[in-house]
Amino acid sequence: MIHRFETIDSTNTYLKQLAEGGAPAGTAVIAQSQTGGRGRLGRSFHSPSGSGIYLSYLLRPNCDPSELMHLTCAVAVAMCDAVEAATGLHPGIKWTNDLVHGKRKLGGILTELGFENGKVSYAVLGIGINCTQKAEDFPPEIQGIATSLAAVTGKPVNKAALEAEMLQALKTMDETLFHKEAILERYRKSCITLNQQICVVRGDESSYGTALDVDSEGALVVRFEDGTVRAVSSGEVSVRGMYGYL
Ligand code: BTN
Repeated sequence: MIHRFETIDSTNTYLKQLAEGGAPAGTAVIAQSQTGGRGRLGRSFHSPSGSGIYLSYLLRPNCDPSELMHLTCAVAVAMCDAVEAATGLHPGIKWTNDLVHGKRKLGGILTELGFENGKVSYAVLGIGINCTQKAEDFPPEIQGIATSLAAVTGKPVNKAALEAEMLQALKTMDETLFHKEAILERYRKSCITLNQQICVVRGDESSYGTALDVDSEGALVVRFEDGTVRAVSSGEVSVRGMYGYL
């Protein structure tokens, strides 16, 4: 079932409530605008009316959390497929959850899990894609970072077609979620972070290095300046030359 709203605070927050109330896998929430759209690391996601697709989709994996480390990667691959099917553009993926074109962000993914008896009782997959904005439509603080599908392709975006492709791609992803290595191989091919100089920020601490690989759990394998090679699975990873990191 699809729950549609003109305006909502956050489609993820609403779908989490539906999930707690027993909604089945495949339930979706779609809004024309969000007043409190949320991103990773407590950030907000700018969600103005009619300009983007703001969609959340429910999974009921009922598995151990350790089996879902690659979930956000799987959603990113599925969303690249959906965007390509609807617009002809294959976005890049900035590890871990940003859809990008060139140096700019087209959209993002926020995955949130619920647990029961140690198992994942639900996963809410939230996706926001900028569709129709012109550069000047974005707030000043993200003008140098964000872009939209229309700005990149130079063509109008059929939002209904994109939404249908996204829902179909999420359903297929759910059915094939545990074909982990095939998913990650596709993720690596689209991941623009690989072979780039990066900065990992955790709390007050910044560490610099080169992104080498995405491992079998979806973590980013980094060679740090001190020569150590470690997998990074959380925190903010900035790519040199993108989003204001020079
Ligand atoms: C990010 O950029 O860090 C992730 C952004 C995710 C935004 C989407 S829009 C639909 C869903 N509802 C939310 O509040 N967030 C996600």
